[in-house]
Amino acid sequence: MNIILGVTGCIGAYKAAEVLRQLQEQGATVRVVMTPSARQFIAPLTFEALSGQPVLTDLFQPGLNTRIKHIEIARWADLLLVAPATAHIIAKFAHGLADDPLTTVYISATCPTVIAPAMNVEMWRHAATQENIATLRARGVEIIEPESGFLACGEVGPGRLAEPARIVARVMAVLRRPSSERRDLVGQHVLITAGPTCEDIDPVRFITNRSSGKMGYALAEAALARGADVTLISGPTHLRPPREARFISVWSTEEMYEAVMRHVNEATIIVKAAAVADFRPRERPSSKIKKSPEPLHIELEPTPDILAEVGRRKGHRLVVGFAAETDHPIEHGRQKLAQKNLDVIVVNDVTAEGAGFDVDTNRGTLIDRRGDIVELPLMSKREMADRIFDHLVEAFLRPERTESDEE
Ligand code: PMT
Repeated sequence: MNIILGVTGCIGAYKAAEVLRQLQEQGATVRVVMTPSARQFIAPLTFEALSGQPVLTDLFQPGLNTRIKHIEIARWADLLLVAPATAHIIAKFAHGLADDPLTTVYISATCPTVIAPAMNVEMWRHAATQENIATLRARGVEIIEPESGFLACGEVGPGRLAEPARIVARVMAVLRRPSSERRDLVGQHVLITAGPTCEDIDPVRFITNRSSGKMGYALAEAALARGADVTLISGPTHLRPPREARFISVWSTEEMYEAVMRHVNEATIIVKAAAVADFRPRERPSSKIKKSPEPLHIELEPTPDILAEVGRRKGHRLVVGFAAETDHPIEHGRQKLAQKNLDVIVVNDVTAEGAGFDVDTNRGTLIDRRGDIVELPLMSKREMADRIFDHLVEAFLRPERTESDEE
């Protein structure tokens, strides 16, 4: 497996050394190509020593011109990864400029390209950068979205280079992907909630439910396999989150609410498979409630309805809810679809065998806002996840199927 690692001039350039090392752990041979400004942040010698390969830093590097170097490297590679990718290199890629070693490699490469942007939050949000990113996505370039946090410039927001493990996991997923696989969610950012939420009674006791997270994690895997960026917000489960997803672990409904609201603007599709606690103790004492022979009365108050708030803020986003029902599933599902302003609801009759909580299979009914009803017979949760995304693509995302067609 031959990978070109492109490094550009940004403070996150030092993380490229760790990316290189982790790629080697996966069995890759890595050759590094640096832009002139990358050399201001990290020395080529670091990459030469780690990779055991010459580093391309100059279009006309003495000793490397016996063959046309950028063409030779581009043909050699199974994948081109650029990490970190600055706003400048993204703009150059988008517009086909070719005036340094990395842009000439990009424009002559026929292998898949993955880029991991890193920059100041306003540079990332700028319309020019977002248009350039959209151009690259439309061309099939995989974008590993930057993470939110404190940036080197002192500001807070999205812009930080994704963690090396996430970058490497995504690269491996691209390399493993069969060419026949559906890539119909490229360019979409899917926010998924999974698992239960827990509401503390006191420091040692809590109320929760039987959700295992299996449905939500299956949705995350399906969305990733179809090319989406995925943010997975999960209550406590025993499952391992997919490495390519941005993963946020939460405990209570309040924490899930805050995490969803922090990330909702980035999302184009929101799928709420979590089994969110509807009530929580009104009082949460800071010390353990003592055992007593008397009955204990705990007053419960409603939790915030995360999905209803997402429905209020949805704009053009697609919002999918789940409903766990024990009676009149279709009727209750329709009511929730309308009340929470959803595009689709998947109703599970959790009394049916093989459906709902803590099993590997599920069955249910998908209802969409146009009134279409799709029966989902007993199948694995992963298959059901794909059936749900198939419906979203067919009904709402295919360019030939627009809102005006529906009227
Ligand atoms: O995790 P598994 O073991 O695989 O099980 C999967 C599942 C049964 C949990 C899943 O398929 C499912 O049905 N999830 C929704 C369960 C649920 O909470 O249903 P509900 O009818 O109470 O809520 C309807 C919707 O509103 C859900 O999308 C829920 O995430 C959302 N909600 C509910 C309450 C609340 N306070 N905030 C919310 O966002």
